[in-house]
Parts: sequence; structure tokens; C-alpha cells
Amino acid sequence: MDTKKHNKNIVEQFSKQARGYTSITSHSDSLDKLISITSASKKDEVLDIACGSGIVSCEFAKHTNNVTGIDMTQEMLVEAKKMQTKLHLKNLTWLIGDVENLPYADNSFSIVVSRFGFHHFLNPLKVLSEMKRVCKPNGVVMVVDVSLPDSKVKKYNEMEKNRDYSHIAALSLTEFSDLFEKVGFKDVNTDFYSMKIELKEQLKASFPSDSIALKNMIIADVGVDDLGINVTEINSEYFLHYPIQIFSAKK
Ligand SMILES: C[S@@+](CC[C@H](N)C(=O)[O-])C[C@H]1O[C@@H](n2cnc3c(N)ncnc32)[C@H](O)[C@@H]1O
Repeated sequence: MDTKKHNKNIVEQFSKQARGYTSITSHSDSLDKLISITSASKKDEVLDIACGSGIVSCEFAKHTNNVTGIDMTQEMLVEAKKMQTKLHLKNLTWLIGDVENLPYADNSFSIVVSRFGFHHFLNPLKVLSEMKRVCKPNGVVMVVDVSLPDSKVKKYNEMEKNRDYSHIAALSLTEFSDLFEKVGFKDVNTDFYSMKIELKEQLKASFPSDSIALKNMIIADVGVDDLGINVTEINSEYFLHYPIQIFSAKK
């Protein structure tokens, strides 16, 4: 797919998702883990890549000197600014832009983080290279995203593409490892958490191409787990458990 068309899809999709995005409670899960893995402190200058509605940026802003959030969807940044105001945080800057080409000098930030962005990137290798370039020597680069075993990726991508047509591909664990290696990171640490979302809550904040097909696909996966998200049913409610992998490495 060409970049122009893809970027249009991203902005269209996230302009619609923006208002409901922050309200999904599990989007705020395990933020403390990200703070502790990066050993974030008041000395740090942080860049949040594809920051969206600013959930991760605002959390880092509580613990660090300053945070810059960059994203290409204006509506998401509008939500980010609302969150900043609500939390009375002063040390944040927001920028509209494409993260494939970061408008920053080499070695500018001590922590460079990206959560739930990589599955939307046409060129994840370029983005990770850019993250490394703008990170200071000895700084931390961290990527947080859904990551599945190779055997589950195809079916998961089919589901996610229906739910959100700007989805490109969830990277498997092997693909993420290869990516970090190609960019030249040596010791990559991995961590994990499971993000549980109730199906109705997820659908309320989504704009699927075919919502009936999506719902049926998810419900049919109870006890099968072809999708890799361990769908469970409790009292006629369905729960999705997204496997979230955290990759971090020092530059
Ligand atoms: C699923 S949201 C994640 C938001 C946020 N990082 C979080 O963890 O809550 C994905 C975001 O990536 C942004 N995005 C996707 N591709 C991008 C690109 N090439 N440059 C900048 N932003 C991008 C979208 O606009 C959207 O806000």
C-alpha cells in the first residue's frame, strides 16, 4: 500500500476512535511497568512516538523532566491536551507529524517510547531506526505492542484489519527480535502483560468494516484460540486478552 493512502486511513480511523480511546479502561493498564522498566526519573527527557491520546506521555510526564508526544492524527492530540489539562501537567509538548521521519537531532532524548503504534507502521524498521537515532547514548528505547507467536499472526491480523482498517500487521515475537537486531541493539529485554478488554467495550470504541463478522469471529474463538487473544466467556460476556510484549534496549 502506498504511504499517502495509508496515512489517510490512519488519520480517518483515529479521528473517529479519538473520543472513545482514552475511556477504554485497560488502555491505562500496566503504565507503572513502563515507568519502572525505563527507570524514568526527573532527569529524563522523553519522546513518545505515535502518542495518540497521550496516555503514556502523561504518565511519563509525572515522573520525568519533560515529554514530547508526536502523532499524525490531530484529533488524538486534542484528546491528549485534554488529558494534560485534567492532570495539571505543564511539562508536555505535542507535535503533529509522521514518525517515519523524526524532526529531531541525533541524541536528543534519554527515553524514546512507542506503545501500540508498531502494528500501524508501513515501515517499522525505519521507525525503530529513527527512535534509536534520536535517543541519547545510554538512553532507553522501548516498544510496547501486541505480539503473538508466528502461528497466530495471520488470523489475528485478519480480525484486526476488520476492526480497524488502518492496521498493517502485528509483528510476531520473532519479527520484533529481528527488528531490534537489524537496528543494532544488542541486549534486548522483554517483559509482558495481558490486556483484558470486554468485547462490548471494545466494539463501542471501534469502527469495523463488518461488525457482525468480527463479533462472530471472536465468539467462535472461545476455547480454540486461533486468534491468540484467549477469548473467554463469562455469563454471556466475552473477554479478549491481548498479549502485550514490552521490548526495551539501551542505546
Ligand atoms: C492505537 S493508537 C496508540 C496511541 C498511544 N501510543 C497509546 O499507546 O495509547 C495508534 C496511534 O498511532 C498514530 N500513528 C500511526 N502511524 C503513525 C505515523 N506514521 N506517524 C505518526 N503517528 C502515527 C495514530 O494516529 C494513533 O494515534
